[in-house]
Amino acid sequence: MNILLVGNGGREHALAWKIAQSPHCDTLYIAPGNPGTAQLGHNVAIAADDIAGLCSFAQSNAIDLTIVGPEIPLVAGIVDTFAKAGLRCWGPSKAAAELEGSKVAMKEFLRRYNIPTAPFKIFRDADAAHTYLEEVGAPIVIKCDGLAAGKGVTVAQDLDTAHAAVDRMMVACEFGAEAGRHIIIEEVLRGEEISVFALCDGHNAVILDPAQDHKQAYDGDQGPNTGGMGAFSPAPGLLTDTAEDDIVRRILLPTMSGLVKEGRPYVGILYMGLMLTDAGPKVVEYNVRFGDPECQALIPRLQTDLVDLCLACLEGRLDTIDIDWDPRCCLTVTLAAPGYPGDYRKDIPISGVEHSDDDVMIFHAGTRVTEGILCSSGGRVLNVTALGTDIDDAREKAYRICDAIDFPDVHYRRDIGRRQQARSTANNA
Ligand code: AMP
Ligand code: GLY
Repeated sequence: MNILLVGNGGREHALAWKIAQSPHCDTLYIAPGNPGTAQLGHNVAIAADDIAGLCSFAQSNAIDLTIVGPEIPLVAGIVDTFAKAGLRCWGPSKAAAELEGSKVAMKEFLRRYNIPTAPFKIFRDADAAHTYLEEVGAPIVIKCDGLAAGKGVTVAQDLDTAHAAVDRMMVACEFGAEAGRHIIIEEVLRGEEISVFALCDGHNAVILDPAQDHKQAYDGDQGPNTGGMGAFSPAPGLLTDTAEDDIVRRILLPTMSGLVKEGRPYVGILYMGLMLTDAGPKVVEYNVRFGDPECQALIPRLQTDLVDLCLACLEGRLDTIDIDWDPRCCLTVTLAAPGYPGDYRKDIPISGVEHSDDDVMIFHAGTRVTEGILCSSGGRVLNVTALGTDIDDAREKAYRICDAIDFPDVHYRRDIGRRQQARSTANNA
């Protein structure tokens, strides 16, 4: 098969690494890819959001299967455009991808099907939003409607912050006029936040092994939010059987059946961002793609062929497939550019990424090759990933490689996986 993978981050490098191992894969193209994916297939200089360009590339290169990593092309309707051209593309349709594309539509969907989430109100007018804030007080959560690269949410501890967030979204339109047209004001949920991933074929869904992200920039969960500074999988003890059962029964299945009822069955990976509250799991957000860097911690443990899984999703036969996982632990550490998640420096030369350990993978996220030299080009630059017999072993291997990479002024968290170590110790006590 000729396979086209869309995207260029650490998530896509991990997906490319797995797809390249598939017996189905004859030729792998990655658009636009990065220096890591270039070692596994052919990078093609077409941007991930250039749907027309990707479609004509797929037609002229006899692509049998396209796999989409990031949300932007999915929300913009890549799957629909490919389907019209008679091309198979793995991921949700534009209508189903609205679960991530519009938080307002997502919250209204949850309300229609009585799926647990924070109680909320939608505002189209800044004055009404300000008046409501005075009524309900803080803490309170303000969200703008559209894709805002994870920045469109303010969890306000006081009213001044809440009012300022409304003005930033609706008056200054910091996230664009469209995203600021509607905002959501919702209750704060308390509990542990977890991400659960499910593969979906329209009607059937299978929950993947758990993976946990570390969102804050600095050790001890301090500092600003980022796209993700590291992750590990599995996470024993994170989810009890009762919580998992609740997630399937009260969240996943009603979501799948609600979408079927509305004529937009969900195909691809559904990322459920959940809060485990005292009253059970509640939906914080949906994403229509793999988490990044959770994907980098999950894929190395996946023993089942990824292409087989994608085909099973597209053909509605996930119920006939067993998913096997390597029982070992996988841990990934994000090496970030100085300044990230704020303004960060680029074009920093990097060396020392060669290694000979089969259990270590260095996934490229924001790198490029300039005049033959590997340089940083993004905020999250590399994902150093290791498989180990347990979390200690995986941590040890990953950090040994992190420390050996020469990347001036790099910053990375030193405590990825510590939470799981604490949980394992507590469970064994
Ligand atoms: P979202 O983009 O909706 O996932 O929001 C970004 C982050 O804001 C989430 O990962 C949570 O940490 C936090 N958040 C969003 N909504 C709530 C809520 N209702 N209660 C508490 N935290 C929230
Ligand atoms: N790691 C969080 C995300 O992918 O949104």
